[in-house]
Amino acid sequence: MQSAAPIDAAPADDTIARRRTFAIISHPDAGKTTLTEKLLLFGGAIQMAGAVKARGEARRAHSDWMKVERERGISVASSVMTFEYGSCVFNLLDTPGHEDFSEDTYRTLTAVDSAVMVIDAAKGIEEQTRKLFEVCRLRDVPIVTFVNKLDRESRDPFDILDEIEQALALDVTPASWPIGMGKAFKGCYDLFRDRLVLLEKGSKGGLPHEGESCSGLDDPKLDALLPVGAADTLREEVEMARGLCPDFSLQAYREGHMTPVFFGSAINTFGVRELLEGLAALAPPPRPQPTADRAVAPDEAKVSGFVFKIQANMDPKHRDRIAFVRLCSGHFKRGMKLTHVRTGKAMVMHNPVLFLAQDREVAEEAHAGDIIGVPNHGNLRIGDALTEGEALRFTGIPAFAPEMLQKARPKDPLKSKHLGKALQQLAEEGVASVFKPMLGADWIVGVVGALQFDVMADRIRTEYDVPVIFEPTPVYAVRWVEGDDPRTVKAFLDANQSAVAEDHDGAPVFMARNAWHLDKAAEEHPKLRFRNTREPA
Ligand code: G4P
Repeated sequence: MQSAAPIDAAPADDTIARRRTFAIISHPDAGKTTLTEKLLLFGGAIQMAGAVKARGEARRAHSDWMKVERERGISVASSVMTFEYGSCVFNLLDTPGHEDFSEDTYRTLTAVDSAVMVIDAAKGIEEQTRKLFEVCRLRDVPIVTFVNKLDRESRDPFDILDEIEQALALDVTPASWPIGMGKAFKGCYDLFRDRLVLLEKGSKGGLPHEGESCSGLDDPKLDALLPVGAADTLREEVEMARGLCPDFSLQAYREGHMTPVFFGSAINTFGVRELLEGLAALAPPPRPQPTADRAVAPDEAKVSGFVFKIQANMDPKHRDRIAFVRLCSGHFKRGMKLTHVRTGKAMVMHNPVLFLAQDREVAEEAHAGDIIGVPNHGNLRIGDALTEGEALRFTGIPAFAPEMLQKARPKDPLKSKHLGKALQQLAEEGVASVFKPMLGADWIVGVVGALQFDVMADRIRTEYDVPVIFEPTPVYAVRWVEGDDPRTVKAFLDANQSAVAEDHDGAPVFMARNAWHLDKAAEEHPKLRFRNTREPA
């Protein structure tokens, strides 16, 4: 392993090259909220850090409905956090990854160019980290890892590196190396820049210093600055790590095959600077976005973007929504007229929510890599493209097969049609997946986080005035059925009517009763594909 990575952040005058649009993926409690706050602290956007905290607290009281409602309100504000550090503009996209884990979480990952994976040093890779990682892998999203909570008794760093490599089948290489852990945690050696960064006592509130530059691990400074024996242990461990791990490769990282691993303690604002500088230096600027016909380069003159998330407005009386659009190219300006490709209609961007600049009111423009919020009455859907005329269809914004399924029926059987309409609209908004079985009068609703059932029941009752009952269903999994020959697909659907449904776009799905049922269908119909993701039509 070489000692220094190419730390070479973007030129400040290159609007696109200086942008870093990323998300944090983690399991609940690993420290995402804390790390977000600290990143904002470095970015000078401290006033927003309070909002992050408030959200964290609201989340903990998830059984309290008012709080969830409130959380939905402020999450528009904290869905995208833009801050500057060094020569870079960072767009941090929030991925609610907690009890309220939802489809949004997955889809947000389609709008980023890279991700930071936060791991609790005592717990290693946990379930939700793994799930989110798999979504990143679908798009080869480059991942920087932050191993958090080194100030607590943790696993051995070698164990952690090994686990990441084994559990995620990803090459790992340390970007820093911890010196001690728990009460004996002293700090880290920054392997990319040869700097010794020591944990400062009482640095929780402010920014820690930059650390001590060293000429390398042999620098006698290390012996002088560290407790007796610690420098030698550091040297031995790093040597061993270098022997075990491959060299850092910018290409392998950018292609999503390798993750550089930083160690730190978010609560002590420790390791955060190194992480941020690592992102500035290594994380990719806005990447070309695939469409059905061609890739859209970020430096193209004309504006284009796609909707990756829909947020219902707070006032249930108005069915207003905010569509979050990831800009893929061009220079966006408030008041622009864009084409809504799916309907062919023109939309004037009168009141876009722009996240660039801390004072949101004065932000008037945005560039490739930025996110804009477009208020609308429900005509914008996930996956929709907005362009200056070209009929682009962005790909790689899939729907994910939900993991939890329930049957939905109205309390009042006469309200079945109303319920259908409500479910259709919520599905378009991306709150959940909704399937209408070929046979029978019920709907099957699928979510990726159990709390979404409560969110739906509450919204259907308050916004559509239809009390709804969710009940267990024998359906174990749904898979979109695809095949090259439409006749083969039709023959399968006709022969399996009791196990077939349509999603809200009318695409056919197979409803398996159990894993065996699913395997058997796949085995018996080799010409069909049973997919757990689907691109919007
Ligand atoms: P999340 O968003 O990933 O769910 O995690 P969050 O930041 O809320 O952190 C979860 C808990 O872990 C919090 O404690 C937080 O203070 C703690 N934590 C975060 N980073 C570190 C760290 O580097 N070291 C240590 N020791 N703890 C850390 P809590 O008790 O649940 O909440 P709080 O009362 O402290 O806010």
